Amino acid sequence: MAGCGLPRLEARMLLEQVLQKPRAWLLAHDLDPLDPALARRFGELAARRLAGEPMAYLVGEREFMGHRFAVNPDVLIPRPETELLVETGLAHLRALAAPRVLDLGTGSGAVAVSIALARPDAQVLATDASAAALAQARLNAQALGAANVRFALGDWFQALPAHEPPFDLIVSNPPYIAAGDAHLAQGDLRFEPRAALTDQADGLSALRAIVAGAGARLAPGAALWLEHGWDQGPAVRRLLAQAGLREPASLRDLAGIERISGAKL
Ligand SMILES: C[S@@+](CC[C@H](N)C(=O)[O-])C[C@H]1O[C@@H](n2cnc3c(N)ncnc32)[C@H](O)[C@@H]1O
Repeated sequence: MAGCGLPRLEARMLLEQVLQKPRAWLLAHDLDPLDPALARRFGELAARRLAGEPMAYLVGEREFMGHRFAVNPDVLIPRPETELLVETGLAHLRALAAPRVLDLGTGSGAVAVSIALARPDAQVLATDASAAALAQARLNAQALGAANVRFALGDWFQALPAHEPPFDLIVSNPPYIAAGDAHLAQGDLRFEPRAALTDQADGLSALRAIVAGAGARLAPGAALWLEHGWDQGPAVRRLLAQAGLREPASLRDLAGIERISGAKL
């Protein structure tokens, strides 16, 4: 492990993954020789990490809202800043019993499953245009014991089953990076699904589609909250107001960046 070229923490996480043993076991067996097959496996993972692959894909999971979500290259790696979307959604639901919630573009299921676990009385519907992402979200819901989540495949609101009643809360973290943005060729983003990151347009087209369709799917007094890019707050508030939604507002993340915007019907 020493001399593999990785920071200590990353090397230890990969070793835990290869040995399927917790950190305490590794510390107690620090000087044990490593089985050659496992050493080879560790070397492969270390090489992939050195080539830039995200740790979350190599170890197969990422923590979000205190839950461990299994991830693979079919899904976006859940980001800590997205917890603001979940917390804001949960705050809106506080006064409501058995609320109905829609998460559009669920990816790993991080947002939908976290809301479902925090509110076992909620009925949560999670959608995605990617069947592979939806399969992963389903596995996460099962593994984490979120029995109150349904799943639907399709393009934004078109995924919804016929006669679906209105929702008390709609949340989404859609692809909002503009085509050609230099960040798409940097860091973890190089390995994540393109369709999870960029709308292949100006960065606002998915946000526009969701805002345009939301009014017809919200119950009176219901809220829509959307995650977006650091400079998209004013544009999203404008879209929300133009759609006739009330009290458009943006909230800042821990870095002080306008991270989510929302409004009510
Ligand atoms: C930024 S990722 C968010 C994933 C997850 N909600 C999270 O916050 O970690 C956007 C998700 O939207 C999905 N998506 C992209 N275009 C879509 C569309 N037209 N209709 C539904 N889902 C779409 C992608 O497959 C991806 O899973």
